[in-house]
Amino acid sequence: MSEETVDPLYHREIVSFIRRGGRLTERQQDAWDDLAEAYVLEIPRAVSSTSVDTAHRLDPVAAFGREAPLVMEIGSGRGEALVHAAAQNPGTDFLGLEVYVPGVAQTLVTMRHEGVTNVRLAVVDAAQALATMLPEASLQELRVWFPDPWHKKRHHKRRLVTDEFVPLAARVLRPGGAWRLATDWEDYAEQMREVLSRTEVFDFSGDWSERFGGRPVTKFEAKGIAKGRTIRDLVAVRR
Ligand SMILES: C[S@@+](CC[C@H](N)C(=O)[O-])C[C@H]1O[C@@H](n2cnc3c(N)ncnc32)[C@H](O)[C@@H]1O
Repeated sequence: MSEETVDPLYHREIVSFIRRGGRLTERQQDAWDDLAEAYVLEIPRAVSSTSVDTAHRLDPVAAFGREAPLVMEIGSGRGEALVHAAAQNPGTDFLGLEVYVPGVAQTLVTMRHEGVTNVRLAVVDAAQALATMLPEASLQELRVWFPDPWHKKRHHKRRLVTDEFVPLAARVLRPGGAWRLATDWEDYAEQMREVLSRTEVFDFSGDWSERFGGRPVTKFEAKGIAKGRTIRDLVAVRR
């Protein structure tokens, strides 16, 4: 595809991440070499290495080799929560979207260690994946644990959870499906609560929820607690 014919979607100027390089450790490289073909989805790209061709549709049954409820985590990081949940729920399939390749490689290391096979990973910008790649109403749950807080006011526009993101989440969740969120950044927690309170497509209590028992304490959560921050959980249910 030439520059002139590129879909405008690929020219998103504001994304919720800064692409960090970072070398793989030897262990991560080994896991990547052995397991990426089976567990890291091949995504047809257009321009950048985190984009997805708008014509591409994920077939979850083909990707996981079975029909099962699908839970997706955005920004799965090193895969701590994702692999934990997959090990606890062998009858459910788990898809992690993450743009940080060493994090994806570390997830493979942990999967191998735990003997977990019901996880697939995709190196892709979640906003783009939700817009087109995921089939409508394909998810039983969507999880966003500790999204990058973008502390500075001038960077708030980069935050993932905004009014504009709501229709994307609504598109991929089936009716009755839960959108779970957690953050240690009070101002972002408030923003999440406001965003969810404004929407008509989700049922939301308007308040914080109990800490989700299915999430282990991730590195980010532990850091937040160590700094004396309050961890806020939220849950909204697709109407
Ligand atoms: C603060 S970290 C939290 C990681 C993990 N959820 C945890 O609790 O340890 C946020 C992660 O989200 C990823 N991320 C940010 N925006 C993303 C996007 N649009 N698509 C996919 N991953 C994204 C970042 O690369 C980063 O690894």
